[in-house]
Amino acid sequence: MMMPAMPLMHTNELANVNGAVSEIEKACVPVHDHGFLYGDGVYETVRTYRSRPFYLPGHLDRLARSADAIRLNLPWSRGHIADEVDRTIRAALQADPGYVGEFAIRIMTTRGQGPLGYDPDLCPRPTLVILVTRLRQLSDQDRQAGVAAIISSVRRNPIEALDPRIKSSNLLNNILAAQQARDAGAGEAILFNTAGFLAEGTLTNVFFVKHGRVMTPGLDCGILSGITREIVLELLRSHGLPHEEGSYRREDLLAADEIFLTSTTREIIPVARLEGRVVHPGGRGPITERVQSLFRQRVEAIQEAESESESSRG
Ligand code: PDD
Repeated sequence: MMMPAMPLMHTNELANVNGAVSEIEKACVPVHDHGFLYGDGVYETVRTYRSRPFYLPGHLDRLARSADAIRLNLPWSRGHIADEVDRTIRAALQADPGYVGEFAIRIMTTRGQGPLGYDPDLCPRPTLVILVTRLRQLSDQDRQAGVAAIISSVRRNPIEALDPRIKSSNLLNNILAAQQARDAGAGEAILFNTAGFLAEGTLTNVFFVKHGRVMTPGLDCGILSGITREIVLELLRSHGLPHEEGSYRREDLLAADEIFLTSTTREIIPVARLEGRVVHPGGRGPITERVQSLFRQRVEAIQEAESESESSRG
């Protein structure tokens, strides 16, 4: 019987497995890696702007915090991981010099290889994998028209069970909710916590607007401290836009004037419909549009600052 063909990867989509760079489809991690066996690892998703990783120090800080939280001792300096990311991006650029898009970069660290069992001492050396893939950017049309979202019946992992602040490779909680979004033909599923308060999306943080005030769940609701969320909160503060972090119920979200989602790869995306109801006629509301434009300016400012500090380092 013919095996179904693997979906074709692009030749500039590369994997760096413990320093060995190859095309993704040729890269392997041994089956007794505890990342594969148990989801025992943590990761980051970074994106490039103009082929340079954006906000990498912030992502590496969060990676270190996630690793500490699962007592995974990373033997690499942040400088080493940053160098490996750069090296893999350069290889991807060389593999297809005509590629004009951006990259999504997944930095994964696992407990490493070892016999079956949960004892961390079974694994003497963590594994470091960096995937550089083509970023599927949202179109301007998506940024205006937004996505449909559902409220998932799956509850976000409680902080006491598996703190969502840990960006863990153990993603079944998110995957189960994402399956419901897919069944409903929606682009994202929004999860509440076990106490019934708004938490986050499967891949995004959630903001909503009521009477001109922007609201988002506080970290104590059990969410990832998103890098994009942090940037948006800082923009709201510095521009004096009314906002708060708090605990919100389903009714609050359903009564929102505007809703938007934030993440590294999607940036800021309006929710056009929630549970089949129109949130804001025309998709994007005025505050979402303002935040999108402030965010874009901030990205450019951060990029400028990063490239200046790089050139001053030589
Ligand atoms: N997702 N919440 C969850 C559960 C996430 O997985 C993500 C990121 C976010 C947003 O965080 P940030 O702004 O730092 O990207 C919130 C990334 C894109 C991913 O898993 O690939």
